[in-house]
Amino acid sequence: MTAPSTEAAGFDIALGDIADLSEVVDREALRDICRSFFDLFNLSVRIYAADDTLLASVSEPAELYTYLQKFPKGRKVVSETVDQVKRTRPTDSSVLRHQTIMGIVYDVVPITYQGRPVGRFVIGPFVPAELEQVPKALVRLDPNLDRLEVRDLLMKLPRVRANTAERITSHLRGVLDLLLFSSHRAHLTSEMHVASVRESYRELAEKTSKLQHAYDRLKELDQLKSNFLATVSHELRTPLTSIIGYSEMLEANIAGELTGEQREFVETIHQKGNQLLGLISSLLDLSKLEQGVMRLTLSDADPKAVIGDLASTFLPHAMKREIAIETACEEGLPTLRVDPLRLKQILSNLAENAIKFSADGGTVRFAARYTDWEDDADGAGAVLMGSSRGAVAFDVVDTGIGMRASELEKIFDAFYQVDGSATREHGGTGLGLSIVKRLVEAHGGNISVTSTYGEGTTFTVTIPEPEE
Ligand SMILES: Nc1ncnc2c1ncn2[C@@H]1O[C@H](COP(=O)(O)OP(=O)(O)OP(=O)(O)O)[C@@H](O)[C@H]1O
Ligand SMILES: [Mg+2]
Repeated sequence: MTAPSTEAAGFDIALGDIADLSEVVDREALRDICRSFFDLFNLSVRIYAADDTLLASVSEPAELYTYLQKFPKGRKVVSETVDQVKRTRPTDSSVLRHQTIMGIVYDVVPITYQGRPVGRFVIGPFVPAELEQVPKALVRLDPNLDRLEVRDLLMKLPRVRANTAERITSHLRGVLDLLLFSSHRAHLTSEMHVASVRESYRELAEKTSKLQHAYDRLKELDQLKSNFLATVSHELRTPLTSIIGYSEMLEANIAGELTGEQREFVETIHQKGNQLLGLISSLLDLSKLEQGVMRLTLSDADPKAVIGDLASTFLPHAMKREIAIETACEEGLPTLRVDPLRLKQILSNLAENAIKFSADGGTVRFAARYTDWEDDADGAGAVLMGSSRGAVAFDVVDTGIGMRASELEKIFDAFYQVDGSATREHGGTGLGLSIVKRLVEAHGGNISVTSTYGEGTTFTVTIPEPEE
């Protein structure tokens, strides 16, 4: 973990140092203090930051200055005074008193925090209570000055005794100190919070980018796998068709009469060749579906005929295992727009599983029924607009071994088998359902499964009726 950067904040979190008043204290709070100070003592106050920025000021224009500014030398004295006061900067922690030839004074008070100067405040103009007469230098500024007027205006300025001035400045210093302390604490807390949030964000961003990288890499590998599957399956198919073709020719005695044992061997080659071809076709299908290049040849299909065809195809196979085949088909089901060979492939895969995973003497049921089409994407909207679409649901129900709920989300993954051990009882590669799911989705439909362990399983394929 690297240390969070605090450069932008202008102070060091580790030490908690601040270089300037304005970094931590709210200007509004400073103005409030000046205002209440003015209300209490009738003295003008200005608070400056260490870099001379005026942070807060509450003052009343001195009428004497307004009067003096009517005379050239008076104007000069006033502007010089204002200038000098502004430029007066205490060098240590003691108060600097700025005296003017007009007898008026300003107190410039340093503001320190943790031993460091962070700004200053200026109190004044005021007149020391000890001043009894109008200073001569002031009267001599211009022969046309009205001496009485000057005296009146001078007396109008606040008069402050020396020890009172001291008490006032130390009071204001105390208030500012307190304000600095509490503001600094609040500021530190919030800065630490910001720093920790920033750090968490950085860590999160780093993790996200690592994940993104891993995801991209996986996608790349997945694509490579699909390409590999496509190429290998394709290359395997060509020699395999020759093997099957020649074994068929041998069986047909084209190369001469076979002995009983030779025929047995050739039949095994033929049978295993066909099995291998089936597997390779599945791999090709899967890679085509994964790459989205599977083409469907759509035509009309009657659900009732689909069920009938399925039952007659699987009857011989089921009979060998003494499994009863039942069918149930609602009347008046809509004609579907599908690729009939693919729909047969879908239902055959489910039927194969149903028989494979049933005990001898069980029952397998094929059914077709009408149902509402609930598409995740626009289902709710379509129902609201009264344009709900129908669908045909095909159920393949068995009374076989069933599956636990935790298995149900995995069985549609390619190569997944509930019993994945080498010693498993049932054959197969675990590709069937992954192809089925993708084929159903390519038809715009969906597939669901419910199962009770030890009791049986129901797969339901729903295909929406064609849009008008
Ligand atoms: N009707 C069912 N009853 C119980 N388990 C099932 C049923 N259908 C599928 N399964 C479980 O889901 C797994 C995956 O099924 P899938 O059809 O994809 O593969 P497979 O039948 O093992 O092999 P393949 O279909 O490629 O020959 C099966 O191995 C089995 O464990
Ligand atoms: Mg299967």
